[in-house]
Amino acid sequence: MDKRDIGEFSCKAEAFEASEDIGRNPSDGPTMGDIINKRFGRRDMLRGSLAAAAITAAFGPLALATAEKAKAAAGNGMKAAFSFDEVERGVDRTHHVAKGYKAEILIRWGDPVLPGAPAFDPMKQTAAAQKMQFGYNNDYVGYIGLPYGSNNPDHGLLCINHEYTDEEVMFPGVGVAQDGKDKDGKDIGFVAITKELVDIEMAAHGGTVIEVRKTGGKWAVVPDSKYNRRITASDTVMEITGPAAGHDRMKTKADPAGRQVIGMINNCAGGITPWGTYLSAEENVNGNFWGKVADDHPEAENYKRMGIPGNWYNWGAYHDRFDVSKEPNEANRFGWMVEIDPLDPASTPKKRTALGRFKHEGAESIVNKDGRVVVYMGDDERFDYVYKFVTEGKFDPSNRAANMDLLDKGTLYVAKYSEDGKGEWLPLTHGQGKLTAENGFKSQADVVIQARKAGDLLGATKMDRPEDVEPNPKTGKVYVMLTNNTNRKAEAVDAANPRGKNAFGHIIEMTPTGGDHASTTFAWDIMVKCGDPSVAEVGASFNPATSPNGWFGMPDNCAVDNQGRLWVATDGNSYKGTKTTDGVWAMETEGEMRGTSRLFFRVPVGAEMCGPCFTPDDRTLFVAVQHPATDNTKDWPEFGRSSSFEDPATRWPDFKDGMPPRPSVVMITKEDGGVIGV
Ligand code: FEO
Ligand code: CA
Ligand code: CA
Repeated sequence: MDKRDIGEFSCKAEAFEASEDIGRNPSDGPTMGDIINKRFGRRDMLRGSLAAAAITAAFGPLALATAEKAKAAAGNGMKAAFSFDEVERGVDRTHHVAKGYKAEILIRWGDPVLPGAPAFDPMKQTAAAQKMQFGYNNDYVGYIGLPYGSNNPDHGLLCINHEYTDEEVMFPGVGVAQDGKDKDGKDIGFVAITKELVDIEMAAHGGTVIEVRKTGGKWAVVPDSKYNRRITASDTVMEITGPAAGHDRMKTKADPAGRQVIGMINNCAGGITPWGTYLSAEENVNGNFWGKVADDHPEAENYKRMGIPGNWYNWGAYHDRFDVSKEPNEANRFGWMVEIDPLDPASTPKKRTALGRFKHEGAESIVNKDGRVVVYMGDDERFDYVYKFVTEGKFDPSNRAANMDLLDKGTLYVAKYSEDGKGEWLPLTHGQGKLTAENGFKSQADVVIQARKAGDLLGATKMDRPEDVEPNPKTGKVYVMLTNNTNRKAEAVDAANPRGKNAFGHIIEMTPTGGDHASTTFAWDIMVKCGDPSVAEVGASFNPATSPNGWFGMPDNCAVDNQGRLWVATDGNSYKGTKTTDGVWAMETEGEMRGTSRLFFRVPVGAEMCGPCFTPDDRTLFVAVQHPATDNTKDWPEFGRSSSFEDPATRWPDFKDGMPPRPSVVMITKEDGGVIGV
């Protein structure tokens, strides 16, 4: 999600301005290594001229030296995990997938989920209809084979987050004033948004569970399945569990016990646990609150650190709990990891407070060799942290019920990356180190409610916006997507965040000591620094075997498939920035090809790529196309303006007059039904 990131794009544009006179090679022929060698000249590099010095800093000489070897390996398919024909980078109104693959729409915003849901009518939207229909801005996608435990690749449940809403392309007649500003940036408030529209927005947030089945090589939603469920911001009652449950700071007028909250908001990515529940991560929850708490209010410091209120929506005008001046504790009840049992549609979702409160991006887990479960998490904000949670209890594969509250007890850690390629996990445990009453932490409830402050006091490493953090069960390595951070000053770089004004992000690989995910130490390395490797000022580093289509910016979500191959989805690529929309890139992680990426799928203009999710046989890849037509459409010469409901940059995926663009889940299969990527 990038509502708050609109300012980023001018920075990205700036980053590219210096390099716009340098042409780019659109063909699939040469690798980036060839281009770099040709442009800068190996001789110049060896002589150490100024340009060569810059390119060496951007792209290590060792990498250049191995370019030919890597290309030969790619040509022979040696050690390469992937061998599909790349999609060409670009920007247009529709999606594109690699040759030999099919990409078809599975479900769109407004499609029926629950029995009796009306057909989607963009001119007659109601909150009541939206509560039964597929929500907006699909982000995380998780798959669980049916029956549970079968790993069935052809029949299962999809668990999907609906992160946020884009009013300007959802509702007729609201113009482009999505953030209370007109197209010239003048503040005009939320004039066009009514209570009825707010209630539709709340119903469009949350999550969806659908039963899906593959027949004759094609997937479809099972209509009226007993599993189908909508979770919304307006109606779904959730239980608060773990250290913060029942604490005074969690109590409100509607919930004097501090144990029950209605809804989840801004759910970005997530994870499926080893026991088949769905973790849904509340991310930019600050945006949904407005109002003000006094500077000397007990929550003032806490809310400032979380950016509350964000004033992105006017929910507070009609629902007092989203106005912090009227209900000051409500914002403490959001920003958590929510656990949902998709096998039981009547179950109460649980906000697992032991996993901390911050802007949770996702939650990918692994069963450690000692049976404990480790959940890796990122806090998506500039200069915020990477976390993990280690359960106290062990996973019992033969007793699902025994695992259902594992996430209530354990240790939350925050990461500290040292300059020498090693690192430490620092426990966020009340009473240890500085996490004491003198510093405002009277109990573990205070620690989890203000996990960011606890990380600040322990000296955690300030990262360039941590998004997905995903362990690879085949190798034991953990990949960290760091999307960008243009606010990092050149003098504030460190080994793990090595670029000032980091417009394109990077990917870190962590190796737990002794293959033990519960270990408090690890080694780490930077796998790629993103951006155009042929532009020295960008300082990018992909494997030189990467083609001109293969590099990308802004890694966000990722997936490790069932063979241990890494796939990276991006958020923020654009015509002006990287000359391509967002997409899914396949990333080599081992051997000589390590750091080589290839473009597999890309989204229509203005969209973000979310939720890559493989079925257990790697023959289907589900992806979520979020907010088509919204981001950076002004910079795309074919459109050149901001989108509105009446005038969107694309009407993907329906392309029908009057039908707005619709965020959708796409199913990708190989035409011959084979394993994806080879
Ligand atoms: Fe919702 Fe961090 O992306
Ligand atoms: Ca993002
Ligand atoms: Ca994301």
